[in-house]
Amino acid sequence: MHPNLTHVRHPLIQHKLTLMRDKNTPSAVFRQLLREIAHLLAYEVLRDLPTTRKMIETPMQEMDAPILAGKKLVLVSILRAGNGLLDGLLDLVPSARVGFIGLYRDHETLKPVQYYLKLPHSMDERHCVAVDPMLATGNSVIAAIDRLKENGAKNIRFVCLLAAPEGIEALTKAHPDVKIVTAAIDERLNENGYIMPGLGDAGDRMFGTK
Ligand code: URA
Repeated sequence: MHPNLTHVRHPLIQHKLTLMRDKNTPSAVFRQLLREIAHLLAYEVLRDLPTTRKMIETPMQEMDAPILAGKKLVLVSILRAGNGLLDGLLDLVPSARVGFIGLYRDHETLKPVQYYLKLPHSMDERHCVAVDPMLATGNSVIAAIDRLKENGAKNIRFVCLLAAPEGIEALTKAHPDVKIVTAAIDERLNENGYIMPGLGDAGDRMFGTK
């Protein structure tokens, strides 16, 4: 396994993921499960955030206590399915800045086409967490991380729900500095670039579109 890849095998994640994969799971439940899994993945992806100390007074005495250091974290959602993971991460880090990268996958070439980009200032000084539930071909994520680096980001992590071996290979090759956290590594991609066994189109499952 690539040294930058973390496969989080917590039983709660695996259980919730099985419910998400089930095609009979309704959109509202699917979104809630994605949010809950995001909480558990956040724990892993943010475990090495730097802290500093601050003097506070508890009701009992003064204390030199740890708090997060540096400029606020930036969470970057790769639209539109990234928003499901974003909501869960924001529950845990509500003061994070949020960026959006809109990319759609051209269904013939499977290549990403950018239609939206909005990022906070000082990207070079922030820890950056890009989110998209599906690491399939890797094309969209690679393009999104290219944009982040063009805008100055240096410390980038990527969180997904399902990763295909092909996507892991492509992403680690294109961006070997990016730490990847995933809840599952599936078998393969099909001829249309969908993850197998997967869960279908994450955006459609989340928003009830088709
Ligand atoms: N995007 C999805 O939503 N699902 C896949 O299986 C692959 C890419």
